[in-house]
Amino acid sequence: TKGAAMVTAVASRVQAQRKQIDKVLALFQLTREQLVGIRDKMRVEFEYGLKRDTHPLATVKMLPTYVCGMPDGTEKGKFLALDLGGTNFRVLLVKLRSGRRSVRMYNKIFTIPLEIMQGTGEELFDHIVQCIADFLDYMGLKGAQLPLGFTFSFPCRQASIDKGTLIEWTKGFKATDCEGEDVVDMLREAIKRRNEFDLDIVAVVNDTVGTMMTCGYEDRNCEVGLIAGTGSNMCYMEEMRNIELVEGDEGKMCINTEWGGFGDNGCLDDIRTQYDKEVDEGSLNPGKQRYEKMTSGMYLGEIVRQILIDLTKQGLLFRGQISERLRTRGIFETKFLSQIESDRLALLQVRKILQQLGLDSTCEDSIVVKEVCGAVSRRAAELYGAGLAAIVEKRREDQGFEHLKITVGVDGTLYKLHPHFSRILQETVKELAPRCDVTFMLSEDGSGKGAALITAVAKRLQQARRE
Ligand code: GLC
Repeated sequence: TKGAAMVTAVASRVQAQRKQIDKVLALFQLTREQLVGIRDKMRVEFEYGLKRDTHPLATVKMLPTYVCGMPDGTEKGKFLALDLGGTNFRVLLVKLRSGRRSVRMYNKIFTIPLEIMQGTGEELFDHIVQCIADFLDYMGLKGAQLPLGFTFSFPCRQASIDKGTLIEWTKGFKATDCEGEDVVDMLREAIKRRNEFDLDIVAVVNDTVGTMMTCGYEDRNCEVGLIAGTGSNMCYMEEMRNIELVEGDEGKMCINTEWGGFGDNGCLDDIRTQYDKEVDEGSLNPGKQRYEKMTSGMYLGEIVRQILIDLTKQGLLFRGQISERLRTRGIFETKFLSQIESDRLALLQVRKILQQLGLDSTCEDSIVVKEVCGAVSRRAAELYGAGLAAIVEKRREDQGFEHLKITVGVDGTLYKLHPHFSRILQETVKELAPRCDVTFMLSEDGSGKGAALITAVAKRLQQARRE
């Protein structure tokens, strides 16, 4: 009959649509072999970055940090810390008490307006100093000359702990006249321009390093720091003899890998999708930070948005209508992805979230959106896992151990907020580095506390040298 024919026609259309959707999702599914391949390529890039000959062209920069030891619990005093480069800009007062390893912190969050993030360097640093002034006023600390640690979460070339030349901006920053300049000098000059107070800037620190330090304060096995947040990066303790860029063979030094740049030489091209390319092209730094753009909070939502646009164009979503909202960059923050993927959430609530985003969806639409989010975040967690497996395996081999027990300090909104990310990351590491027993330790405010700890150690060494 006519009715039956219509039902069959609808059914086969639904089936055909499902096939098309699955085809897109499949682009994000990595096989075990692919993940092993990624782990091994990452390992090769680590070695390139460490070796003097290959370093200049290396995409994973492996930057020496001049942080050589873990805090030993004797650190004490009051410190200021700045935290620039994550979701917010913060100024902190950190009080360390020796012996008990207790830390007290006071902080104030400031927003950095977009026009300042992407304005001139002078404006950016004047704004930072303005925020410090506000904080010192607020805490009643204007006259105090406290040692300061500057957590500056961008790639910096360091020649000592208190010098850091910005190599290039990443994530959402693009202030002019900063690349190639020492960020500590820029901060000092901005303080001088304001001519209101003086600060003793002791250390410039990457957020990964602060995170590792904070966890290392409590767990001696912590030799890796991981950030899965706005950006993606990892640091670890390396044997000095393997660091060709720094003199000396004794002991260890922390290396900021800047692994976000992995793939910039094309070595990930076989797994990059057209959506990854679109996200890259629409970013502030096209061609750069390709691994970061496949893994971190700032970009995952953008990948999802590109897929949704394509599915809509194919008539598979939103009744084929691309709304103005869907065309808007940055609508899917990590927060939304995390909510959409929460298992406790009924589909109706997924629809509500989409509605809040200005996307009018049917029930079927919301199922597809959730699947897309799941595919994108799963791939991100697996890619992180492959990278992490590369470093723990390297540490195991370098030390000649059959088995390695190691702790990874972790921070970042993606790791902390997403309902599945951390689990998939951990499972992947287990699978790809079976001889390593990896413990994950959430860092409590690594950027602030870690900067203070590093400043305390640096200050102690500075004083010891003077005596
Ligand atoms: C970006 C920065 C890196 C930082 C990471 C996490 O990758 O280049 O320095 O550690 O984001 O914030």
